[in-house]
Amino acid sequence: MNLIKTRILIVGCNGLLGQALVNYYSKRKDVELHLASIEDAFVGNNQFTYTKIDITKRNEVKKLILDFVPDYIINAAAYTDVDGCETNRELAWNINVNGVKYLVEGCRIVDAKLVHLSTDFIFDGQNGPYHEDDKPNPISYYGRTKFASENEIKIGGIPFLIIRTNVLYGIQKGVKKDFVEWVVENLSQNKHINVVTDQWNNPTYVEDLVNGITLAIDKRKNGIYNIGGLEYLSRYDFAIKIAEVFDLDKSLINKTTTDKLNQKAKRPLRGGVIILKAQAELGYKPRTIQENLEGIKKKLLDL
Ligand SMILES: NC(=O)c1ccc[n+]([C@@H]2O[C@H](COP(=O)([O-])OP(=O)(O)OC[C@H]3O[C@@H](n4cnc5c(N)ncnc54)[C@H](OP(=O)(O)O)[C@@H]3O)[C@@H](O)[C@H]2O)c1
Repeated sequence: MNLIKTRILIVGCNGLLGQALVNYYSKRKDVELHLASIEDAFVGNNQFTYTKIDITKRNEVKKLILDFVPDYIINAAAYTDVDGCETNRELAWNINVNGVKYLVEGCRIVDAKLVHLSTDFIFDGQNGPYHEDDKPNPISYYGRTKFASENEIKIGGIPFLIIRTNVLYGIQKGVKKDFVEWVVENLSQNKHINVVTDQWNNPTYVEDLVNGITLAIDKRKNGIYNIGGLEYLSRYDFAIKIAEVFDLDKSLINKTTTDKLNQKAKRPLRGGVIILKAQAELGYKPRTIQENLEGIKKKLLDL
């Protein structure tokens, strides 16, 4: 008997989340996968069909979607450099908003569901962590683009899932270093680092995020779901946990505050996402930071 496979298009497959999604779906026999991103090829093994695509090009997006006719499009592509978005505003809007609008248009033509990633940066960080129905008030241009992308989807007349997450960590090929790798690399070289005590989140291990996203898809959910980590803590305390698990010198970590960093974009200070809805409705069960860091340590030692 022929199994009817679910057709899933992963856009942004070369990013931190994109690669983790490919890794997961490559083991699912009930899924037919097609990959797309802006680079010339997929960074992992080439057992999958791949299309080089720039989501700011409406015709490229339309052609890709009409050629593959997906049941689901997972959009893991974005301009994620928060300070870069502050200065390169036109590019940020093109990728994070117009790109999403073109994906929505494609979904409408082929009746696909769009699964889109959003962020706690749509909030101002005055009183996080945030519920799904809290009122957004972005304080950075990146946050504005991500909020606008959510609105493009909500008014798009398509079935959708918006997954909001925060402070992703995990190891993948060729992506910019995550916070864990940055801390480990500096402390291993006996370099001092300054880490803020006033930014609070619930850091999200990329494999937990994949688990949350795929549960929501499999359970045919719609609407907004927060997917984050179990523990709510300051960035400084996160760095301390990393040093402890990797047996590195904690005294190299200096405390600082956000106002001393002079970053181009403002950061929400009390950010983070409340994950109760995902726990209750999806059976989402993230692991602790300790468990995840130990997993990363093992992965790095095996490399
Ligand atoms: N990372 C976090 O802490 C975090 C937190 C909350 C929410 N999110 C959201 O989660 C999603 C995934 O984040 P991530 O950290 O996995 O991102 P990432 O590692 O930066 O990956 C994004 C991917 O999209 C690609 N891309 C950029 N512009 C494109 C375009 N015009 N057309 C096609 N592909 C394009 C990037 O290519 P290049 O690298 O070559 O530009 C990259 O491969 C994003 O929507 C992000 O906003 C992330």
